[in-house]
Amino acid sequence: MAKTIIISNRLPVQLQISNGDISAVPSVGGLATGMKSVHSGGDSLWIGWSGLTDEEIPEELIPKIDSALAEHGSSKVNLTEKEVDGFYYGFSNRTVWPLFHYFLEYSEFELDSWEIYKAVNQKFADAILAKADNEDTIWIHDYQLMLVPQMVRAERPDISIGFFLHIPFPSYEIFRTLPWRREVLQGLLGSDLIGFHTYDYERHFLSSVRRLLGLEVSFNDIYLDDRVIKVDSFPMGIDYKKFSDAAKEHSQRTEDEKSELQKRLDTHKKSAPDAKFFLSIDRLDYTKGIAKRLNAFEYFLKKYPQYKEKVRLIILAVPSRSNVPQYQLLKREVDELVGRINGELSTVSWTPIWYFYRSMPFDNLIDLYTSSDIAWLTPIRDGMNLVAKEYIATRTDKTGVLILSEMAGSANEMNESLLINPNNFEQIADSLFEAINMPEEEQISRNTLLQKRLERYNVEKWANDFMNSLVNQKEKDQTYRSRRLSVDIMNTVMNSYTNAKRRLVFLDYDGTLAGFHNDPQKASPDEELYSLLDEISSQPNTDMYLISGRDKETFTKWFLPKKYNMIVEHGVWISQGGEEFRMLETVKKDWMEKILPVLESFVDRTPGSFIEEKNYSLAWHYRNTDPDFGQKRSVELNTVLTSLIANDDLSVLNGNKVMEIKSSNVNKGRASMRVYTEHEYDFVFAIGDDWTDEFMFQELPEESITVKVGRQKTQARYFVDNTKNVREILKRFADKR
Ligand code: ADP
Ligand code: G6P
Repeated sequence: MAKTIIISNRLPVQLQISNGDISAVPSVGGLATGMKSVHSGGDSLWIGWSGLTDEEIPEELIPKIDSALAEHGSSKVNLTEKEVDGFYYGFSNRTVWPLFHYFLEYSEFELDSWEIYKAVNQKFADAILAKADNEDTIWIHDYQLMLVPQMVRAERPDISIGFFLHIPFPSYEIFRTLPWRREVLQGLLGSDLIGFHTYDYERHFLSSVRRLLGLEVSFNDIYLDDRVIKVDSFPMGIDYKKFSDAAKEHSQRTEDEKSELQKRLDTHKKSAPDAKFFLSIDRLDYTKGIAKRLNAFEYFLKKYPQYKEKVRLIILAVPSRSNVPQYQLLKREVDELVGRINGELSTVSWTPIWYFYRSMPFDNLIDLYTSSDIAWLTPIRDGMNLVAKEYIATRTDKTGVLILSEMAGSANEMNESLLINPNNFEQIADSLFEAINMPEEEQISRNTLLQKRLERYNVEKWANDFMNSLVNQKEKDQTYRSRRLSVDIMNTVMNSYTNAKRRLVFLDYDGTLAGFHNDPQKASPDEELYSLLDEISSQPNTDMYLISGRDKETFTKWFLPKKYNMIVEHGVWISQGGEEFRMLETVKKDWMEKILPVLESFVDRTPGSFIEEKNYSLAWHYRNTDPDFGQKRSVELNTVLTSLIANDDLSVLNGNKVMEIKSSNVNKGRASMRVYTEHEYDFVFAIGDDWTDEFMFQELPEESITVKVGRQKTQARYFVDNTKNVREILKRFADKR
């Protein structure tokens, strides 16, 4: 039976060795806590690092470790101390983590760590390959393993691979500073589906793919030569029921059943019934804004001194990545701040901040969530922040206020919380004031909405959505594949070709016979192309036409001496057997003086774009512009033109990075049909790459062999990937084999 292989750096449990024995403790962090629920539900295997280095594991304990992990449906990847240093503490947490969270100044770019990152990613890929069957689904997680998708794809081209990034994907301006930016993108593009928490991360990623790799992106599909990759956002949810059930169970506990922590919290509540608990829970990470929060707390008490002795901040900070210097500095900073603030403000009966620097069992986490009036989370950047969601889920009576940084991914879905900018102390202090004084009905109405959403879009739904999307993507890809002009289909085509009494062959030029060039004049034909076209056009009973949107002057120069048949400017002109071009359609050009100034104004405002003036049409090229900007401008131009040409008989063709305005009665479909009716043909072939070729595909008789170059949506019967494949077809035509 097909299984799902989950792969992440962290496993759901971390192994620890003490007194020669091993124990497994649950991992903290959003990825592990979220995926744990997904993993426990289905037939899956989880591959990851055990949390121990090879040097720390005595040989005799290995079988024990393997069986302990097997109990959790897991299997381990072994890492040496050097690998953990370079891969985990190094490239993952000193380069990618700070960079992707916009802490550019913390990012270190070290070649050694990058090399180790690559080698360790290969180890993870090998671990997958050792366990995976072709029909399995591979789900790779997070920034530590961004090269794994391509490494697996290289060995198993047909396997289904999903990737989810649990942290932000930064804007192109940040991402471009990474020396290995192209390699990282290419690694990720081994996937069939790439998921992010929010639409912003998704669009940043797509923008980097477009700008750095120059790939074609249409909506949220990325077109590679031989595959289409889908990119989408799936905001991760929590195991809502687990948290709300636990909270309910806690609320029904007798005094004896309560934890020590709960008893302490209750005692404080009783001694000062008006006092409010503010709660913050995070890994001790500079992205979480813990130091800022402490400063803001002090500021709040200055601005609203009436709350001295009335509020208490509980900070639970989980030790994290303590080998990385920035984390050590942060630890010192937080220790000092807590010490100073408590030292300055405490009274005999009041300590303003309770600070726990440790991991806590789930049970205590629930005690804290349920006992706190206000959850206060101020990340400076956070991919999602599940703590915010967990807090809301535990509020069984629907009271409680969540103050959340708008820089957390979860802020997108938690509009009913009090959203703050973590750098704005004024706003934070006022939000704390508002939270303390928020009427209960308002708390209930806000939390009702929040809970409903979190309950519906829980972690299970999130994982299912991702998996379904991956399956759909794969199916879509299969459909594409079935329409590929495969070797078998091409053999059948050649059979018809050789047996045909009279053949008609239409060949588009740019993007089909020749690749694109920044300057269209430079995309001239090469010797190989000439000789193939010479061969085909000289075959008896073969009418070969070059059919293009190009102007007749260029084609006269390139091809007239060769006496090829040609249709240019989308069907305005035709030349057969070396004769001068003559008009195939009568077309007007008086509209041009109205449109030209509009296009010029777009050229002025869109660096890199230019106008090509043809005899009967105008083309605005934007191949050399910033890809996002060019795309945006083309949409804008489309709108402007649509209203401008409403009363003229004109149409706008959206080609490959070009928009062309021309008479509506001219198109390649009409032109090719005119030629088709001149003789009796029993073999018709048409190939082209862009939107303008679709007219041909649509209008030619159904039995024609129509072929699209590239994988975009098409009316053609078949597709090939690129111009190289087109040459292969031409060679077979030329050889008649
Ligand atoms: P991140 O993934 O950056 O650590 P999240 O808020 O998304 O941040 O996830 C943190 C996860 O770790 C939550 O599921 C939370 O319950 C868990 N967690 C945080 N602090 C503790 C702690 N002290 N003890 C146990 N679990 C914790
Ligand atoms: C974040 C990351 C996870 C990581 C977790 C804990 O949630 O997205 O990939 O596992 O933090 O960090 P750690 O370094 O301890 O694994």
